[in-house]
Amino acid sequence: MKISVIGGGAWGTTLAQLLTDNGNEVLIYEINNNYLNEINNNHIHPIFKNVLDEKIKATNSLEEAIDYSDTYLLAVPTKAMRTVLGLMDKLINRPSIFINVSKGIEPETLKRVSEIVDEEINPKYNAGYVCLTGPSHAEEVIERKLTLLVSASLDNDLAVKVQNLFANDKYIRVYTSNDLIGSEVGGAAKNAIAVISGACTGLGLGENARAAVITRGILEIVRVVEFMGGRKETAFGLTGIGDLIVTASSENSRNFQGGKKIGQGMKLDEIYANATQTIEGFRTIYALHELSEKFDIELPMISTAYEILENKLTVEEGMKKLLKRDLKAEDFS
Ligand SMILES: NC(=O)c1ccc[n+]([C@@H]2O[C@H](COP(=O)([O-])OP(=O)(O)OC[C@H]3O[C@@H](n4cnc5c(N)ncnc54)[C@H](O)[C@@H]3O)[C@@H](O)[C@H]2O)c1
Repeated sequence: MKISVIGGGAWGTTLAQLLTDNGNEVLIYEINNNYLNEINNNHIHPIFKNVLDEKIKATNSLEEAIDYSDTYLLAVPTKAMRTVLGLMDKLINRPSIFINVSKGIEPETLKRVSEIVDEEINPKYNAGYVCLTGPSHAEEVIERKLTLLVSASLDNDLAVKVQNLFANDKYIRVYTSNDLIGSEVGGAAKNAIAVISGACTGLGLGENARAAVITRGILEIVRVVEFMGGRKETAFGLTGIGDLIVTASSENSRNFQGGKKIGQGMKLDEIYANATQTIEGFRTIYALHELSEKFDIELPMISTAYEILENKLTVEEGMKKLLKRDLKAEDFS
């Protein structure tokens, strides 16, 4: 089958390679000319330098990418998602499937990507939505290292279709889920916790602190998932705790690395100025803090992280603030 990959960064290109391994044809839409030229002329992606299948082609014409197929793999950062979908909407002229792999929540609206798709795409041409998520570093998948994913959709037949599209018997196993909200929120929220975990490492704290952040972090994720209408159990699966472990305990994670820089005293502006790739976690901290304020949801680590990013607290002050909270029983209910 033919798939148009919208966004040829690390993840979009990796999934284009996976889809090609599985016998599909892909065309990548990418606006970065360096990425475009390297994919088309040298069959590599500058982020990894891995050799790509020669059949993988990229274009900087959104029109060409939209005409290519009726299945769109959305792999641009959530910051660009609404704009890109708005442009796609003007070009789409047949019922189409949207598979989103981007992980974030829009801070201004607190909307998930499925809601943004619903708002931006003409309902006549929106034939279904799947969130493909789970613990997956592009750097490993591109090397065909074993990875488990989740295909989450309100439409079970579509979830199964996408499960079969991405699964293979070599390195990818895909589960389905009908908890779209839980899967989308878990995938987004774990990036916020990964930033905090990185900040602890940057501050010179050790494995004990990391375990504490991951464990208490899943509790904050559960609260957000449940508030937004998802299921608690989903947060304890691949799209929650699974993705949290891989992101919050790995030097490979950009969110962890971004947090580490904060822990070392770097300011957010400086990190953004030097970032060549997407770091979703910072925006997600803003979104979840907003949610916590607006709806009185207790998210102590995320709200403290927000104050650090806003330069209201130093990282050391943030840590002390969390330690000074009233002592209480551990309660996961
Ligand atoms: N990298 C991973 O391992 C990984 C794994 C799972 C999910 N994700 C998620 O996938 C999304 C993309 O991550 P990534 O690692 O590929 O990031 P990236 O920065 O490597 O790639 C993003 C791509 O989007 C393109 N882009 C940005 N703004 C655009 C716009 N306005 N119009 C068109 N294209 C635009 C960029 O040129 C870039 O190639 C993020 O939400 C991330 O959380 C990443």
